[in-house]
Amino acid sequence: MQRRTFLQNAFLFTAASLLKPEWLWAGRVQAFELPALPYPYEALEPYFDTQTMQIHHTKHHATYVKNLNEAITGTKFEKMSLEEILANLTDKDTKIRNNAGGHYNHSLFWKILTPKQNSSEPTGKLAEAIRIQFGSFEKFKEAFSEKAKSLFGSGWTWLAYEKKRGLFLENTPNQDNLQMKKIYKTSLTKTIFGLDVWEHAYYLKYQNRRADYIQAFWSVINWDQVSLNYESAL
Ligand SMILES: [Fe+2]
Repeated sequence: MQRRTFLQNAFLFTAASLLKPEWLWAGRVQAFELPALPYPYEALEPYFDTQTMQIHHTKHHATYVKNLNEAITGTKFEKMSLEEILANLTDKDTKIRNNAGGHYNHSLFWKILTPKQNSSEPTGKLAEAIRIQFGSFEKFKEAFSEKAKSLFGSGWTWLAYEKKRGLFLENTPNQDNLQMKKIYKTSLTKTIFGLDVWEHAYYLKYQNRRADYIQAFWSVINWDQVSLNYESAL
């Protein structure tokens, strides 16, 4: 490679890195990577325990990333952004579906958690939308918690938004999510936040007490980030 071309590529690579996280790139040129947690493993104690956070991030999420990179090698998904992969896969792409979903879901999950809640409930436009759609924040919490308790087996409970429907709750099995547009026949759905309802997310501390884990979740939600997610979906 000519030195000039190399320098041009290096510049473009650096510029792209500054503009967007790698997992959102279209025309991606490097493998997906495990994102760092935005807080230490022990930061969410006593709600989410240190050992669970360590295993969840360094084993479970890391494995989804590794398997995703392997699964897309040599396929049409290889150069796609993570969102493009999710939007284009079908129910025949099982390994990519499980691992792309796992990477996307956990990357979102870490970001909507925080050890320093500035507020114990949403504010601004999101607070208003929740009040309109669910009646009150307390009723929304109740509806979300019931939805998560009702999920059979492993999966995720989501708060999502569509222009025509407004905010709504949905459960998806395994590592699926509503960005899997061909599978879930959606096109405009945006995920605002979600709860990991796999036993690997809570079993060490809560064992079979899923309801206690769901209750603990409300104490570690980053409402500032969730509000941003909502406002960017409008
Ligand atoms: Fe998980």
